[in-house]
This record gives sequence, structure tokens and C-alpha cells, in this order.
Amino acid sequence: MKIAVVGTGYVGLVTGTCFAETGNHVTCVDIDEKKVQMLNNKQITIYEPGLEVLFERNIRQGRLEFTTDLKEGIKGAKIIFLALPTPPGEDGSADLKYVLKVAEDLGPILEEYTVIVDKSTVPVGTADKVHAAIAANAKVDFDVVSNPEFLREGVAVDDFMKPDRVVIGAESDKAKKVMEKLYGPFVRQGNPIIFMDVKSAELTKYAANSFLATKITFMNEIANLCELLGADVDMVRKGVGTDTRIGKRFLFAGIGYGGSCFPKDVQALAKSANQADYDFKILNSVMEVNQAQKERLIDPLKAYFNNDLSGKTIAIWGLAFKPYTDDIREAPALENISKLLSLGAKVKAYDPEAMENVKGVFGDKIYFAEDEYDALKDADALMIMTEWPVFRTPEFDKVEARLKNKVIFDGRNLYELGQMEELGFTYHSIGRKIING
Ligand code: UDX
Repeated sequence: MKIAVVGTGYVGLVTGTCFAETGNHVTCVDIDEKKVQMLNNKQITIYEPGLEVLFERNIRQGRLEFTTDLKEGIKGAKIIFLALPTPPGEDGSADLKYVLKVAEDLGPILEEYTVIVDKSTVPVGTADKVHAAIAANAKVDFDVVSNPEFLREGVAVDDFMKPDRVVIGAESDKAKKVMEKLYGPFVRQGNPIIFMDVKSAELTKYAANSFLATKITFMNEIANLCELLGADVDMVRKGVGTDTRIGKRFLFAGIGYGGSCFPKDVQALAKSANQADYDFKILNSVMEVNQAQKERLIDPLKAYFNNDLSGKTIAIWGLAFKPYTDDIREAPALENISKLLSLGAKVKAYDPEAMENVKGVFGDKIYFAEDEYDALKDADALMIMTEWPVFRTPEFDKVEARLKNKVIFDGRNLYELGQMEELGFTYHSIGRKIING
């Protein structure tokens, strides 16, 4: 089948590449000429483990192409995916200008029946707006379908190739058939394609991400309570997570969620609810708690240094919002670094992938280390912000030799309490007892 994907950002590129991998011919369209030139030269423009092999193979085998020309790109396409940015507008609601501009441009150039698919995360009612924008100038029949993505950065290829489920909001049987054929190869293991009306599909994406953000935030509040009551959040997590109604995943307490999806989607759903005259109280609390959680380790850090961080050097391990990505959007590390600098501290940071991106934010205001041990040299304390595997089993004698004080503030609960006790580190984590404090 011939497919076009408009927008070659993270979602567009993963979507296009994975559809090419199952034998479709995919043309990706983007207005950014430099990007398209790079992609045509087989230079991948995003960091996503496992994607490059598929990307390179499908270009080589002629199934994956890139162009800036929308008309050329959609020629012969049975399905056109819209994978365009929907940044939060000033009031927190998703800004649809990119999606609606492409919809307007598509109207006059569609040549035969086409299924237009909203892949971007868009508020309920967007498909209707896209439909109207295309219909204004369309000469042929078409359907607008909602097919939200559930890709996690770092494992997006796996999530795409073996999805838990595929959600499709479609109003016509014709569109449903086209989508069912396209997704057939991805659900062979028996996972479902769930068909529904368009509005329910649009809401499903927001509901899923907001629920997961709420699940994490709930555990973060349990962790904060554990600290006050002398309980251990890791034990509580195991105790509750084995109840299959609750489930083991997404129960890890830490210094808050970040990334390009959860913060934006929770905010957008709260805003949508508000516009529908509904006060979604839980979501407002989730946003408030998560904001505070990101700075959860600052107070104990200040207290350790008698409320004076001026002139102190803090080593930071981890800058990305989570491991296996270079994405720093809404990353807790950034807020902590800003806070530390405002309190007069110096920062030495290390991340396996995200340093270039952070250089764009802080420039020479902080020191970017060669590796995790270099970050510790002459530092007064270590703070851990991201659970990269390389931080899980460091050589503690090297850590001790470089740090001025044997103290770790761990926002991701990487180490066993017993081990820290034995090694003699002062160890603050989230929702657990303070060791040697
Ligand atoms: C998320 C959704 O999982 C995905 O389905 C959606 O389409 C896009 O948003 P992503 O943002 O890539 O994916 O990351 P994810 O792995 O879901 O983690 C989100 C955030 O939650 C991270 O900041 C992570 O550190 C945090 N998190 C996750 C926790 O704090 N505890 C957990 O138990 C799980």
C-alpha cells in the first residue's frame, strides 16, 4: 500500500519507518528542507534505539522516501498520516495551527478516495475540524480517522511493531477496512485493533497518558508519606503492584515525570475539561504534586549544607527525562540545575546522551563532564536525576575517592539501602529511610 506521512518529527519518522518495514511504500513530507535533505542522505534526525537499522534498510530497498513537496508526496497514497506538532498554546490547550494548515492544503490536491489519519495527540473534536478544513476545497470523497500513538521514547520501535493495542476512531466502514489491512501485520500475536467512534479515540490517548501520570504521581505522594511515617515505598510498591487490578508497571516513585507527552497531555486534558465546564480535580492535583516533586531533593540537600549552597559544587548524574533518550523536555534535571545555580551552587553534569541538548540551555553556566566519574571530581555531593543503567552499579570506591563528602541524593532509588549503609554513604532517596543521615 502507498502511504504518506506528513511531519517527520519523532512520531512521524517512527511511524513512516515502521510502516515501510512491513512492505508499504512510504513517503514522508516535511516543510523543513534541511531535515529532508539529511533524511534523504540516510542521516537519521532523531535518537531512538533500534530505529536506524530499519530506517537505513527501508531507504536502501526503496520503500522509504522524503520530500518537501506535499502534492508530490501524497500522490497515489491511500492513507495520509498527519504527525504534526501540537504544542501547548498560551492557555495550555493544544495549538492546532500546523494540523489545520496541512488539512487546508490537502483539500484541493486529493485525487481519489483517501483516509486522512490524525496521529498527533489532539483534543476531542479535532477530527471534525480537520474534516471541515479539507472539505472546504476537496473534490473527492475522503474520511478522517483518529489513530493515536502510544510510543514510549527509547522503545518506540518495539511499541510500534508489537503494540498492546491499536486504537482506531473511524466513522465509515470503508475507512475501517483500509486501517484494518494496514495494521494486520502488527497485531498477529492476537493483540486487538479496537475500533470506536472518532471522539472516543481522541479521548483515549489523553485518558491513557493522564492515567499513567496519575498512577506515578499517586506513588510519589505515597513515597512522601512513607518518609514521614518511616515506611519504605519500594516495599509498598511490591505489595500493591502484585494486585493484578493495579499492576506492577508505572509505580516507581521518583522526582516526578517529564518528557514531551505526560506534562503536555495532562495539561491539555485539564484544559479541555475546563472548556467543557468540567473541573477535573484529580488532574489539577497531579500537575501541582508533580511540580513540587521535581524539587523534592533540594530541601534535604540544603539542610545537609546548613542551608547554604553558595560555592558548593553539585555533581548531577542524568539530564534526560528518562534513560535511552536524549530528550530533555520537562526533565527534572533542568529545574534542579536552575534551582542550584540560583542558590549559588556550581554544577558538574554528566549524561550518556543528552549533554548536547543541555549545552543549548545552560551553555557555560555548568560544567559538562567527560564521564560519570569526572562529574564527581571535587564535588561536594552527588544528585541522581535519571536511571541510566550505567549509574546503577558504579565503582563506589571511585565515587568515594572523588567526592568531597560521602553523600548521595538519589531521585531514582537506584541503590539498596543496606549497601549504602555498609559503604558508609549518607544516602537520601525517595520514599525510603535516610541512611547515615
Ligand atoms: C509516554 C507514554 O508512555 C506513551 O504511551 C505516550 O504515547 C508518550 O508518553 P514517554 O514520555 O516516552 O511515553 O515515557 P514513559 O516511559 O512513559 O515515562 C514518562 C515519565 O514518567 C518519565 O519521566 C519517567 O521517568 C516517569 N516514570 C515512569 C516514573 O516516574 N515512574 C514510573 O514508574 C514510570
